[in-house]
Amino acid sequence: MIIGIDIGSTTTKAVSLDGGRVIHKTKTKASDAVSSAAGAFGKMIVEHDIRMANIREIIITGVGAAKIKNDLFGIPTVMVDEISSIGIGGMFLAGRDNIIITNIGTGTAIIDARRDNISHMGGSGVGGGTILGLAKKLLLMSDFNGIMELAQQGKLNQVDLLLEDIMETDLSFLGRQSTASNFGKMLDSARNEDIALGLINMVYQVIGMLSIFAAKSRNIDRVVVTGNGSNNPLGKKILEGLTKIFRILFEHPEDAEYTTAIGAGLSWERKT
Ligand SMILES: Nc1ncnc2c1ncn2[C@@H]1O[C@H](COP(=O)(O)OP(=O)(O)OP(=O)(O)O)[C@@H](O)[C@H]1O
Ligand SMILES: [Mg+2]
Repeated sequence: MIIGIDIGSTTTKAVSLDGGRVIHKTKTKASDAVSSAAGAFGKMIVEHDIRMANIREIIITGVGAAKIKNDLFGIPTVMVDEISSIGIGGMFLAGRDNIIITNIGTGTAIIDARRDNISHMGGSGVGGGTILGLAKKLLLMSDFNGIMELAQQGKLNQVDLLLEDIMETDLSFLGRQSTASNFGKMLDSARNEDIALGLINMVYQVIGMLSIFAAKSRNIDRVVVTGNGSNNPLGKKILEGLTKIFRILFEHPEDAEYTTAIGAGLSWERKT
């Protein structure tokens, strides 16, 4: 058995793999790198009653991985590159290669993943951390699920300047309900619900458009979305809105939040 651990900026994810299959998954909040890696590993061992003797190697990746200098618990521990891990994990979950992956974590990375070459195209500091950080000041809220529930009740036309606010007709391929300026209207009557929705809308529209440009530049018509930001119902809806306009599909594979950890674990099988 191989354990893949992804020590991200916000959460640490751990998976166990055997024969190229994902067996167990677990998540913890990332504190310092060593505690969260040890914590995620310990949680997985205890929750699933895994025997230490069955673990051949621990593969670590993510922003915190460089802080771990020694083997964990006497098990051979190696560090692998995060971008390659996202690429390998993304191709595994998508079930094919030659894909564009948009990993929405605390920040966002866009990756061109081919069977024999994985490259980092770029990305944006706009990501899940932007939602949490701005919500903390604007809404005085820190609970992610609470922010999402609030946003479900929001009205975008209270905060965003829409094309219908400034034009009588559509603008080329954009309908009148499209955002002309995120937060460009911001009525005094806007409620927290509306601000929460405006925030999520802004983050997913920015990420969605960057992904669409990336896909178009490679003549690919779909984007595989990974990271904790993948399976967000509101985020998915906003990306679907972009699909209607730009004809680029967004895929949200199951276990998308474990992509990087899965890719790290699988990179062991690639080298052997
Ligand atoms: N229950 C939750 N608790 C905290 N954050 C959550 C939760 N659900 C979704 N999120 C979102 O997920 C983001 C973190 O995603 P993820 O775990 O993929 O990032 P990471 O790997 O820690 O960061 P990065 O890859 O950028 O270093 C948070 O910023 C938040 O927006
Ligand atoms: Mg990550």
